[in-house]
Amino acid sequence: MTARPPLALVTGANRGLGREVCRQLRDRGYRVILTARDAERGRAAAHELGVEFLQLDVSDPASVDRLVAEVRRLHPEGLDVVVANAGVALNGFDGNVAATTVDTNYFGVLRVVEGLLPLLRPGAHLVLVSSGVGQRDLLSAELRARLDLETLTRSELSALMHQFVADVQAGRHREAGWPGTAYGTSKIGVTALAHLLARDLADDPRRLDVVAVCPGWVRTEMGGPNGERTVEIGASSILSGLDVPRDAPHRFYRDGAPANW
Ligand SMILES: NC(=O)c1ccc[n+]([C@@H]2O[C@H](COP(=O)([O-])OP(=O)(O)OC[C@H]3O[C@@H](n4cnc5c(N)ncnc54)[C@H](OP(=O)(O)O)[C@@H]3O)[C@@H](O)[C@H]2O)c1
Repeated sequence: MTARPPLALVTGANRGLGREVCRQLRDRGYRVILTARDAERGRAAAHELGVEFLQLDVSDPASVDRLVAEVRRLHPEGLDVVVANAGVALNGFDGNVAATTVDTNYFGVLRVVEGLLPLLRPGAHLVLVSSGVGQRDLLSAELRARLDLETLTRSELSALMHQFVADVQAGRHREAGWPGTAYGTSKIGVTALAHLLARDLADDPRRLDVVAVCPGWVRTEMGGPNGERTVEIGASSILSGLDVPRDAPHRFYRDGAPANW
């Protein structure tokens, strides 16, 4: 019996980096599940690439539940790679922008990862697409101290992300020590989450690998036309997360090399 090729799932993949990550995974011999919130655009992208499509809006818990049930039904053998790529970078900065950005970029990743965790096969990789824009030194010394990666729990990290949104909504984010960037704060959360997940899963007998990655500044709709990189180079930086040393405590990489955050 010949073994089936490994199976990968990518979020936010109807365009931009997610779509290119699907293409590169397909070319590496993976079976690929391309997911997108808009079924029509997602199906079209999957059709062009010759890969499978499933609908997923990472900001809708019911959509995540449906996806998990569908993957379990269609692929009981489980997943080898999950690339949590879906994200937004909205214009402006107010309570609504903070709420949508944190809900999509941080809680969207958390929902997808926690939902799919039981479906991961031994040795599977979780690649969380973050950004070097999410630098911890944007935070006050007091908030940085609370981001202690040895002791912070996932629910404490989520509470910090909720606190950021509440502080922006109440107009007190500066006094509370937060920066004036919802995108940067959400990505600090994503990179921290990769470290906490890696720590929490260290004893999992499946030997799962969790890493956060930065694609660099890429010419997509989000990155704009002045971005320094092509989508191909950005996507290969994301996929270099599959090859980084599993046991290294550092869990944030760009182009396969440890990056600062
Ligand atoms: N481009 C850069 O320079 C850069 C730099 C650092 C990090 N990143 C990160 O790389 C990732 C991909 O960015 P990109 O440049 O490819 O951006 P993009 O071209 O704007 O694509 C973003 C993708 O995310 C999807 N998405 C947004 N909200 C979603 C939701 N609630 N559920 C499911 N999908 C959702 C979008 O779907 P719709 O088409 O439906 O909107 C789109 O497919 C993001 O996490 C981004 O933060 C990008």
